[in-house]
Amino acid sequence: MAVQYEKLSGLFTLETENSMYQMKVDAYGFLLHLYYGKKTAGSMEYLLTYYDRGFSGNPYDADRDRTYSMDALPQEYPIWGNGDYRSPCLEVRMADGSFGSDLRYQGYEIEDGKYGIAGLPAVYGDSSIAQTLKIFMADEKSGLEIVLYYGVIPEYDVITRTVKVENRGRETVQLEKVYSACLDFLSGEYDWISFYGRHAMERTVQRTPVVHGLQVIGSRRGTSSHQYNPFLILAAHEATEDYGDCYGLSLIYSGSFKGEVEKDQYNQTRISIGIQDEQFCYELKPGEVFYAPEAAMAFSGQGLGNLSRHYHKLYRHHLCRGKYKSVPRPVLINNWEATYFDFTGDKIYEIARQAKELGVEMLVLDDGWFGKRDTDYSGLGDWKTNERKLGGTLKDLVNRINGLGMKFGLWVEPEMVSEDSELYREHPDWAFAIPGRKPVRGRSQLVLDFSRPEVVDGIYKQISMVLDSANIEYMKWDMNRSISDVYSAVMAADRQGEVLYRYVLGLYDFLERLHVNYPDLLVEGCSGGGGRFDAGMLYYCPQIWCSDNTDAIDRISIQYGTSFGYPVSAVGSHVSVAPNHQNGRVTPIDTRAAVAMAGSFGYELDLCRLTEEEKQQVKRQIEEYHKYWDVIHNGDYYRLTNPMEQDVAAWQFVREDKRESLIQVVMQNTHGNPVVPYVKAAGLDPEKRYREEDTGVVYTGAALMYGGIPVPQRAGEYLAYRMYLVQV
Ligand code: DGJ
Repeated sequence: MAVQYEKLSGLFTLETENSMYQMKVDAYGFLLHLYYGKKTAGSMEYLLTYYDRGFSGNPYDADRDRTYSMDALPQEYPIWGNGDYRSPCLEVRMADGSFGSDLRYQGYEIEDGKYGIAGLPAVYGDSSIAQTLKIFMADEKSGLEIVLYYGVIPEYDVITRTVKVENRGRETVQLEKVYSACLDFLSGEYDWISFYGRHAMERTVQRTPVVHGLQVIGSRRGTSSHQYNPFLILAAHEATEDYGDCYGLSLIYSGSFKGEVEKDQYNQTRISIGIQDEQFCYELKPGEVFYAPEAAMAFSGQGLGNLSRHYHKLYRHHLCRGKYKSVPRPVLINNWEATYFDFTGDKIYEIARQAKELGVEMLVLDDGWFGKRDTDYSGLGDWKTNERKLGGTLKDLVNRINGLGMKFGLWVEPEMVSEDSELYREHPDWAFAIPGRKPVRGRSQLVLDFSRPEVVDGIYKQISMVLDSANIEYMKWDMNRSISDVYSAVMAADRQGEVLYRYVLGLYDFLERLHVNYPDLLVEGCSGGGGRFDAGMLYYCPQIWCSDNTDAIDRISIQYGTSFGYPVSAVGSHVSVAPNHQNGRVTPIDTRAAVAMAGSFGYELDLCRLTEEEKQQVKRQIEEYHKYWDVIHNGDYYRLTNPMEQDVAAWQFVREDKRESLIQVVMQNTHGNPVVPYVKAAGLDPEKRYREEDTGVVYTGAALMYGGIPVPQRAGEYLAYRMYLVQV
């Protein structure tokens, strides 16, 4: 049993294969967090200490006992108003204007299988892999109730959480903050690891010690954002890739969010994550419910690599869905960097024909195929083929591409509208704008109000007509600006604080309809590259365009950061032209391919312009990708170096049965009279022997892992090496 409850002691214990999570209902009905970490087999209540502490108040029912304070005790789900002055998870403005709530334990339920959340993405799993615990808490005065949900997935050392808030009272309340999960630690010195960036430079790893005060990251942009990712790690100071305790908090949500870590006056640490509370206020009328998005917590007692592998497996097997969840995705050619807006149907056909000759399996027609869209100043919202530009209908073009033996994919940006479009002229109120103010433009476009079902319906109708008009097997769902001017024309003034949350629900509703009505469609997420690379999107899109930066060297760091919380199979990654369009860097085409192969692989350049030699290289790369696909997508992923700190970037894939492995190495720098870097392999069976494919040399797993491999030194910048190992 993954979930256990002991009535006498009030202890709830959640167990995974290698972790234990414990909380307790105390004598007053408060829910205290006791422990999360390696298994200890027993009650951890002894960790709680009680002292009379100044300025840390006591609940009224504690009477003269001044040693009992919510300000010092670890909370399971901290609530504002009961004497805990640290950053809370729940803050409610009551009908009388006060902010105090007092939620006490009412009961629990244990169910087999993993709970789901209506309208929101969630990890799924039946009774063979998961159990659910629900804990009910209520505020007697207001009638407010919350249900804390826990989904325990032992195999991956994961516990998911969400919170349902229900108004069972007689008066309307305002939810000012509803976080999804929190972890309180009584002791320990920690680092927190977060992922920051900007457009075309996403998910840079930042590791800093947790210090006194509140450290915060998040997004106010309506999307999870390029700037910060909704994924946090709390790691013991001494934790490394393969050593030490670390905890992940991953928010399965694609909108504005906040992540916080706080070291308090007693050196206790609190880490929490949830939807952004700024510009958020949700009116909960009597009888209404609100669901916080799900957060997935994972624990590793063996370092960060292991923590990442928990998330990789969880998300690959129990979050991603659809036909392409576990089958090879077609190697694609995307025309964006080859043509931008400047193409014709014949040019696209030409690119496809050349690509097919080299082994590419799908042509993706990017931005510019519809409406009046020869620049990014117009056309969004008018999802009708520009037949003049394509020289025929979309179906004609798709048929021609299919005739080559290739699949066809299409770019769309359904959440957006250009002011110069028929849609905007007809429905100006569908776009976000604050009455009487001129809206902030982003990429010269406005954002459609997806919190309104009729707007979602209207765009869905257009997009589904396109999908029904031809054999379209892939869709790239783009989103190219941060949201601003949030105001919904149909929402009452006092409910505007709900709009961004409802927007995300509208987005999910649209994506869910695609999932249900077009089960064979592969949807790739995108937001100006990786501006919405989050676990929420993975529920609908098994792959997400990782970054608009296609330079192999920058991509190494971007993909390195991404790998902490997301599987390689989710990373859309393409070989593009050199010099690179984003930073002008020149790298060998095989290096570009090595980096792009650590993902869902494709090309994004005019293959017709390659030299004959390069074309042969592309042919070989595609053959290699097919050969290694299984170990890359289904194998365990290991980060062998830190490319942000070392010249040598190296990563490795190992099949779960350890019989096969692929190591990729890229030299990020070159020096005279070079020092030879040694890369140590990981994850192999130390006792077994492995033959390296190219040289035929046989090594023991132990030698490769403990002695390492000298990286060959050749003159030349950015060279890539590969070692494919098979057990003998
Ligand atoms: C941003 C995407 O990330 C690019 O790949 C491309 O699709 C452009 N948008 C098209 O406008």
